[in-house]
Amino acid sequence: MKGELIIIKLGGSVITFKDRPFTPNVLAIKRLAREITESKASPLIIVHGGGSFGHTLAAEYGIAGGLKGGEQMLGFSKTHNAMVRLNMLVVEALLDEGLPAVSFSPSSFIITRRGRIQSLYMDALEQALKSGFIPVLYGDAVLDYAQGSAILSGDQIAARLAVEFDARRVIFGVDVDGLYTSDPKVVQNARLITEITVEDLKGITASVGGARASDVTGGMMGKILEIIDLVSRGIEVLIINALRENNIYRALRGESVVGTRIIGGKV
Ligand code: IPE
Repeated sequence: MKGELIIIKLGGSVITFKDRPFTPNVLAIKRLAREITESKASPLIIVHGGGSFGHTLAAEYGIAGGLKGGEQMLGFSKTHNAMVRLNMLVVEALLDEGLPAVSFSPSSFIITRRGRIQSLYMDALEQALKSGFIPVLYGDAVLDYAQGSAILSGDQIAARLAVEFDARRVIFGVDVDGLYTSDPKVVQNARLITEITVEDLKGITASVGGARASDVTGGMMGKILEIIDLVSRGIEVLIINALRENNIYRALRGESVVGTRIIGGKV
């Protein structure tokens, strides 16, 4: 399996309507399920974000900052449960396309320390891949050794699994065309960066496009921090717009797609 695996992270802003609490983008989910299935990509791990399912509750109960007891315990459970509900929609769409997708709940096999993955039980996931299943994971409310609870982003999960399994390519599907010189939703003449070295990536500031204040896991900036480690390990990283039809299909098949490619050396 070494060197063959593709990991795809579907952003919460792609599979949900981020500004409408608990509202899935059903059409996008169904289309993406079809594109993923038709691409025949294998072995493959799918990770998805929280969007208006996870982030709404995580922010309301302050889950990312740790567990202080009381109401927050219920908030942790509700956040996890909202993610289970969203995950079910994604998995059901994949099953409808005939893909052997299997849900893996991150909070049941990952524990963090101050928000970073500390312990991770890989055996079941590895066995599922070996057997030809498509594991589907998601950003989740997880237990944390130092602070009680944390919000583990799908980005961090995708990056860590890519390292553990020595993935070939990680595709981040987001709701903009890639990394911009500034936020394209705010700045009109923001330019798309089609290729960037990991060194230049390190210099990019929080003005990068796509980050949202409501994202407890850091939006585009959080993604960049996860990516830096991947590229230095020789893993191909792409950020593309998953709301544009056929982008995910093409990226999974290794065809060229408008977006940002992060590369190791100097451009
Ligand atoms: C967040 O996951 C999960 C929760 C808030 C429970 P992500 O950080 O990967 O979600 P998106 O893609 O930014 O929505």
